[in-house]
Amino acid sequence: MKSNTLKSSSPSVKMSALLSQMTLEEKIGQLQQSAYFSTVVTGHVVDHSGTIEAIKAGRVGSVLSVHDERDLKMLQKTAVEESRLGIPLLFMFDVIHGYKTAFPINLALSNSWDPDLVERVSRGVAYETSHAGLHVTFSPMVDLVRDPRWGRVMESNGEDPYLSSLLTQAYVKGYQQDDLAQPHAIAACVKHFAGYGFAEAGREYNTVDVSERTLRSVVFPPFQAGIDAGVRMVMTAFNVINDRPATANRWLLNDVLRDEMGFQGVIISDYTSTEEIIQHKVATDTKDVAYQCFEAGLDHEMVSQTFQHHLKELIAEGKISEETLNERVLRILTLKEQLGLFDNPYRNFYEDSAQYMLLETTKALAQEAVEKTVVMLKNDDALPLKPKQTVGLFGPFIESQDVIGEWAALCEKSDVITLKQAFDQAKHPYVLLDETTLDTRSRELDTIIVALGEAGSEAGEGNSKAKLRLSASQEALVKKAHQTGKNIVLVVFAGRPLILTELEPFADAILYAYQPGTMSGAGLYRLLSGQVSPSGRLTLTFPYHEGQIPVYYNHLNTGRPFDHARPEYRYNSRFIDIPNEPLYPFGFGLTYGQFEYSDVFLSKDHLREDDTVKVYVTLKNHGSHGALETVQLYIEAQSFSVSRPVNELKAFKQVYLDAGEEKTTVFTLTNAMFKAFNIDMAWTTEQRSYFVKVGPHSGALIARTVQLT
Ligand code: NOJ
Repeated sequence: MKSNTLKSSSPSVKMSALLSQMTLEEKIGQLQQSAYFSTVVTGHVVDHSGTIEAIKAGRVGSVLSVHDERDLKMLQKTAVEESRLGIPLLFMFDVIHGYKTAFPINLALSNSWDPDLVERVSRGVAYETSHAGLHVTFSPMVDLVRDPRWGRVMESNGEDPYLSSLLTQAYVKGYQQDDLAQPHAIAACVKHFAGYGFAEAGREYNTVDVSERTLRSVVFPPFQAGIDAGVRMVMTAFNVINDRPATANRWLLNDVLRDEMGFQGVIISDYTSTEEIIQHKVATDTKDVAYQCFEAGLDHEMVSQTFQHHLKELIAEGKISEETLNERVLRILTLKEQLGLFDNPYRNFYEDSAQYMLLETTKALAQEAVEKTVVMLKNDDALPLKPKQTVGLFGPFIESQDVIGEWAALCEKSDVITLKQAFDQAKHPYVLLDETTLDTRSRELDTIIVALGEAGSEAGEGNSKAKLRLSASQEALVKKAHQTGKNIVLVVFAGRPLILTELEPFADAILYAYQPGTMSGAGLYRLLSGQVSPSGRLTLTFPYHEGQIPVYYNHLNTGRPFDHARPEYRYNSRFIDIPNEPLYPFGFGLTYGQFEYSDVFLSKDHLREDDTVKVYVTLKNHGSHGALETVQLYIEAQSFSVSRPVNELKAFKQVYLDAGEEKTTVFTLTNAMFKAFNIDMAWTTEQRSYFVKVGPHSGALIARTVQLT
């Protein structure tokens, strides 16, 4: 059976028949993921040396991180030909922003505010991944993030639940392509359920303590979006959430994920996160772990083997039921069936998969992604570069290929096009500068491009960081370059927002590139040279100082909000040594156009339940370059039964305007946009007055009022 409906996971007759032939050991085997070929051990060491024998005995359901074609074939052949029932294995891998062609890291991709781009990128990723013989990617990571100290913000869609939900759907559609049995589709896995992005102090694996309202309002929506798009897998989070580890949290996995959110696919634990509930002090031994995680609703155990070792005994003792086990097994079998593995267990095994990697079309897509994701944070007429004007190239990242970021699967730094290479390819004249030649060789120049950043290994899993400034030596380079009196164009590569407060005055222009991947230099060159205007918009607030963290746009107001008219007034919510405002707010990003917003008006000043209201805004590009503008619409409840954020993003539109062009953009307000979880935790509107705000970013909005009636 080839399933077209990814939302339904009802087991087929064939799978039910297969289940009826399975022994208890074989059933339990389907719940096990082995890490036999994993070269990177990211948690407890678990002995998987017996994997081949276990596969023959039907005691392995899937294998993690295998990517050598010969290994894949050997493992699948063993399962199909040497196990009693010949059930094929699932192969899963972390393909997060590219398999062989590195696309910009996910946080950068979110800066595009472009679900269509993200869907096409995911298709490109799935194309390479499926040709490598893999079936499931552990992506997208949809954890809502507010803390750039956390190294994994690089994998996220940023801090806004609405935008993240749109992008989550795009990832799922791009990977799964409506029918998993299609040759180039792979199953997606939304992770980490739930709350991982709220780890206290941004410290990896740390405790999460957030209100149910925050969970429902901002943490769950992207997961729900993934489920609505038909995602086949959900991964549990490592963390404790409100005192229960997520992996053993029945409320979370059963009541919320299954019953409320309607998820029917496979719930997989994270790497040894089952066993870790002993460290979380809620279980005493591995049998207890197996019992609690199974009871909570877990289907598939990654790396650790507590199900393997204890489920049989727990069933014999009557503590868990075989019926429940059967349901879990059927979910795994159904996924295998949907992927077409019972029709062809060797799908997508090629003699030479290399010919499908790094194709020109894939690289062109990766370059387009760079062009649409870099954010211009400042530009005092230093960019774009004048045609063929000789520029100085300075700083450690001019020639660095360390810009693919973490979780780069099999992408190689050696494939990266650096900034210098891009200038070479474009035959754009430049002078390569170092500290000793900076003064003398730059005399004839107008502009110096200073490329700085953090190493790829400073972000990603296990890389929380408390100090978010660039190294002192790199900051010194900018100051030195500034002393030459030339235009300084700063290009920053990083896996997270860094604190640029001290550097900002020394730069005339700043391009924030995050980690753009294989086509880094090529895309950046087109932006620097003005062939394309920057259009990326921040999806994660850039703090002014680490001491502000968490600082995010959709916060509540406080009873004593900061008053700009009385900044020194002591008894308002403020810091005495730094401002409240971040350096760059959510949604911020400049273009080579100069946009003016005017004539913002609503078609009506009230909105009935079954009605709509139009919001008009006129945009004029006063600049001398055409550019893409992302017009953003936020709402603010003037009152509600619970406190609501000062701004909530509800819609946005991307509009291209030629130089001098004027256009009117129209949004449609519906009742649903004003809903929130009320005092009784019901998702509803309240008939009150709301601000509707439009503008280029969350810090520059024009407000109008609408009354819900
Ligand atoms: C741990 C990470 O938290 C998770 O995101 C990843 O998918 C697994 N390891 C597998 O590598």
